[in-house]
Amino acid sequence: CGIVGVTGTDNSLSILIEGLKRLEYRGYDSAGVYVNAQDGHDYLVKRPGRISNLEAALTDDVHGSAGIGHTRWATHGEPNEANAHPQYSQDNRFYLVHNGVIENYAQLKKEYLADVHFASQTDTEVVVQLVDKFVVEDQMSTEAALLKVLRLISDDSSYAFVLMDREQPDTLYVAKNKSPLLVGLADGYNLVGSDAMSMIKQTNQFMEIDDHELVIVKPDHVTIKDFSGNEKHRDTFTVDMDENAADKGAYPYYMLKEIDEQPAVMRKLVQEYFGDSDQPQINADLLKAMADADHLYIIGAGTSYHAGLVGARIFERLCGVPTTVHISSEFAYEQPLLSQKPFFIFLSQSGETADSRQVLVNVNQNNWPSLTITNVDKSTLSREATFTELLYAGPEIAVASTKAYTAQIAVEAILAKALGEYLGKPAAKDFDVKHQLGLVANGMQSITDSKKTLEEVAARYLSKPRNAFYIGRGLDWTVSLEAALKLKEISYVQAEGFASGELKHGTIALIEDRTPVIGIITQDRTAGLTRSNLDETKARGASTITIVSRHLAQEDDTIVLPDVDETLTPLLSVVPAQLLAYYTSLGKGLDVDKPRNLAKSVTVQ
Ligand code: G6P
Repeated sequence: CGIVGVTGTDNSLSILIEGLKRLEYRGYDSAGVYVNAQDGHDYLVKRPGRISNLEAALTDDVHGSAGIGHTRWATHGEPNEANAHPQYSQDNRFYLVHNGVIENYAQLKKEYLADVHFASQTDTEVVVQLVDKFVVEDQMSTEAALLKVLRLISDDSSYAFVLMDREQPDTLYVAKNKSPLLVGLADGYNLVGSDAMSMIKQTNQFMEIDDHELVIVKPDHVTIKDFSGNEKHRDTFTVDMDENAADKGAYPYYMLKEIDEQPAVMRKLVQEYFGDSDQPQINADLLKAMADADHLYIIGAGTSYHAGLVGARIFERLCGVPTTVHISSEFAYEQPLLSQKPFFIFLSQSGETADSRQVLVNVNQNNWPSLTITNVDKSTLSREATFTELLYAGPEIAVASTKAYTAQIAVEAILAKALGEYLGKPAAKDFDVKHQLGLVANGMQSITDSKKTLEEVAARYLSKPRNAFYIGRGLDWTVSLEAALKLKEISYVQAEGFASGELKHGTIALIEDRTPVIGIITQDRTAGLTRSNLDETKARGASTITIVSRHLAQEDDTIVLPDVDETLTPLLSVVPAQLLAYYTSLGKGLDVDKPRNLAKSVTVQ
């Protein structure tokens, strides 16, 4: 979910809507705003569906000098108007937006609120009703009541809250635990938001909020306190971000724009990480910390996890350091036995994924060194890890990740080159990653230039079937997982990425007449084997499609990729898969950028 708040300007409503649009990537099941005009009038408007539905419901009379807004990715309760935020107390005094999950909400409800009528099925309503109860029945101040509620919320819960009290209409009561939230300081008024981007039109000055703090935001003043009521000082920081970088220009969808940006991102990475040098310019302390480790652990979710699968193989090849990749939500609660000197690499486009952050919390408790590779500078995972390296991919808006995946792999390769050189490994010395990334950029360009072919392949093979397979071996297998995820996410074809040798041990039973099976073939050692596995599916009726490196190509191959070093072929082979997913989704008339049930950044576990 995404949340925004503002106090101290008559433009509050438009600032909230603008912020929510920039946060829509966090969820778009339903949206709502509460604004208070401080003239005796206040307004609550909520709608199921997109922000545009909410906007259409805002009549001219709705206005305010302070307010809160929310765009939701449902956790408790279906995405209808009643469950949309802001949630409010039964006497209409308190209004609350929340991102996260209150794990003990049922118990709190039973214990304190048995006599209260609930308008929604949300865990959030329990919190706002509880604040109201403590204020009205126990005569507590709003601040004291909120503090009491925060102490009652179990520690495994996650929340970013902004609360408004109708009787103090210029004040935002703010608190967080695990979920992201920042304060923005503008000229004469102040804001809160789930990320910097949501406030960047208003300000580039921000203030961090730590877990277990209560923050009181007024138009001209921000007070931060710990749960015992002690005031804390907080420095501000500046974020330099181009507010227009998130426009889609002439493109019909962000996803297509972002696919097309990949060659430029590769070139930008070369420029940022090499400058005029032939060697990657990596922070010496980071290299030392990595070189001191006996095992690298890569942690990620979704597409970032898939980028980790590729990266682990690159680190092992170039650095000779054992490297394993873990799904963050698994690692967080079933930590494997670790080596003596672990080093953690967090991959996260947004830098906000709650599952990954949970692992980082454990890592920090043990004082293990860590690096976050992210697209968002000063994001939570970036702030909390020992080191940060950036993806320089520009804002990624489409829910299905494309340029962040390839940027993550490129940064991993650059880092592996630097670490391998530092460790004196010949494989790293021989690997000219700077030159190769230049070839990759050109190769990507030629693939994105052949959209027509990919559109035809998508229409011919993928528009009808209910399911499809991507297969490959080694690095090609790891790409097949990402390729299948793209297809699933946006075209709703049930797609699986599979190790091609494993297919015959069970899954081949699913092959029917005209089931599409797409083989990725870029590795010399296994090319022949994958071709045989493809033939086995063809013999059982499959429609086979191939994505093949030029030097391995045969006459009837479907998509031929320019040659680059074998270690970096994932950067090319994924691009046709991204475009096949795009055109399949487009052909079905689906919303490419905002597929059902998903959110770009998931800040709940
Ligand atoms: C969400 C998105 C995925 C993304 C994953 C991890 O589930 O829908 O596209 O890969 O989160 O996000 P991160 O920002 O940590 O890379």
